This record gives sequence, C-alpha cells and structure tokens, in this order.
Amino acid sequence: MDTLNALVIGGNGAIGAALIRQYQRWAQENDQGLQVYATYNRQRPQASAGVQWLQLDLRDLAAIKGLAEWLQDIDALHHWVCCSGYLHGDFGSPEKALKDLQGDKLLDDLAVNSVGPLAAFQASIVALRRAQFAKVAFLSAQVGSIDDNRSGGWYGYRMSKAALNMGIRCAAIECARWRRPPVIVALHPGTTTSALSQPFTARRNPPPQSADQCAQDLLQRMLALTVAETGTFQRLNGSAIPW
Ligand SMILES: NC(=O)c1ccc[n+]([C@@H]2O[C@H](COP(=O)([O-])OP(=O)(O)OC[C@H]3O[C@@H](n4cnc5c(N)ncnc54)[C@H](OP(=O)(O)O)[C@@H]3O)[C@@H](O)[C@H]2O)c1
Repeated sequence: MDTLNALVIGGNGAIGAALIRQYQRWAQENDQGLQVYATYNRQRPQASAGVQWLQLDLRDLAAIKGLAEWLQDIDALHHWVCCSGYLHGDFGSPEKALKDLQGDKLLDDLAVNSVGPLAAFQASIVALRRAQFAKVAFLSAQVGSIDDNRSGGWYGYRMSKAALNMGIRCAAIECARWRRPPVIVALHPGTTTSALSQPFTARRNPPPQSADQCAQDLLQRMLALTVAETGTFQRLNGSAIPW
C-alpha cells in the first residue's frame, strides 16, 4: 500500500491523540506513507504534518453529513477508529442510582456515545468501500457489556455503550456483504489515564495505563485485525468480551 489513510474521530482526546502519534511513529519506522484525517470537538489541536483536522460535534447530525464531503476525494480509507466518548462533564456525571436519572442527560449520552459514532461511520462508507480491506474500530467500554454488568450504576454511559455495541454488530453483519468485506469491531481500551477517567482513577495506585501505552496496543490491534474477527467485542490483546 502506497499511503495508508486513517481517520481518527476524537483525535484530540487522550487516546485519540496518542493513537495519531503511534501511527506517525509506525509510518516513520516502516517507511510507510501515511495520511491521517482527524476530528476534534472543542479545541483545535496544533497543526502537525500529515494530519488534516475537521471540527465535528457528534451531537450535530447535519455536521456529520459533512464528513462524507470531507472524505470524498480520498482514494480509499483504510483505517477508521472512533476514539470519542463522554462519561462526565457539561451534561452531568454518571448516575449512581435510579434517583439520579435525568432524561436530558441520558439523551446526550446516547447522542455522543451511540448515535454520533454510528452516523460518522455511515458518512465514511463510500471512502471505506474503496479500500481493499478496510479496518474499523469503535472504542466502546467493557461496562457496556450487558452480560458483564454485575455492579449496576453509570446508567447513561452503560446504556449508550451497549447501544453503540448493537449498532457495531448490525454494521458488521451488513458490511460483511460488501464485495470487499471490512472488519468492524468494538474495542475496550482498558482503564487509561485521561480526562474521561480522571475523577474515577485519580487515587489509584498504581495509576492506570498511560494513553501512549493504550494507543500502542490499539495500533497493534488495528494492524493485526482479520476479517474473521468482524462483529466481535474485544480487549486490546484480542481476547473476547461478552456482549
Ligand atoms: N480512559 C478510559 O479509562 C476508558 C475506559 C474504557 C473506555 N474508554 C473509551 O475510550 C474512548 C476514548 O476516551 P479517552 O479516555 O481518550 O477520553 P478523553 O481524553 O476524554 O477523550 C474523549 C474524546 O471524545 C470527544 N468528545 C466528547 N464529546 C464529544 C462530542 N459531543 N462530539 C465530538 N467529540 C466529543 C472529546 O473531544 P472534546 O474534548 O473536544 O469534546 C475527546 O476527543 C471513549 O470512547 C471512552 O468511552 C476509555
């Protein structure tokens, strides 16, 4: 492959930004051409050679349609990774109990964590279909596993990741019918130091893995993915997580 084209949604987050650095390092070490397309939401990252940025709020479905236009001149999109996600912030914190549930907050969780990522994938399909073998990964979360939920709580985050997972599974089944089928997976990155995890991990000793460590494993997973793995929910070491 002459140039690997990779799209990173949420390229300004801890894991997303570290993933872009990993792609750049890997391309340099392997003398591989690389073009990164990345989205950010609030703050435009500093310019970096080989990275094109697009502002995208995943709650803005009209803007997500513009993603298709932005990608229309790409020969083929080879890697697609969604690194965006919302756990706490402007719309509130994770709910501990039923009494904490608020409809607006739940709808925001669903907009950012489920509807937006799937709509961004939909807007990328034409570019992905041009690739010989497209690889698609959505960062989900193990707490989005219904089977694995033993402690409850975090209603909005769990519900929105579970909804995302169902969208991923549907997309994997549908896109397996493409003439050149892609691999589409849900990945749990593992607990990682970031703004998203900070309030819940600040006192952990030892601290969780760094975003750079996570991104190194994430890139290796992307490179190793095979078509047979499509429609699975995995950790970064490739082990399966129950849906
Ligand atoms: N860190 C962990 O321990 C952990 C564990 C399990 C799963 N995950 C998942 O891993 C992914 C990456 O998380 P992270 O740890 O790297 O968190 P992070 O540093 O907080 O990054 C989150 C990213 O999501 C973007 N985002 C939030 N709201 C958005 C919106 N409305 N529209 C577009 N983008 C939006 C943020 O952009 P702005 O800041 O510009 O809004 C940022 O780029 C998420 O899907 C998360 O659920 C993380």
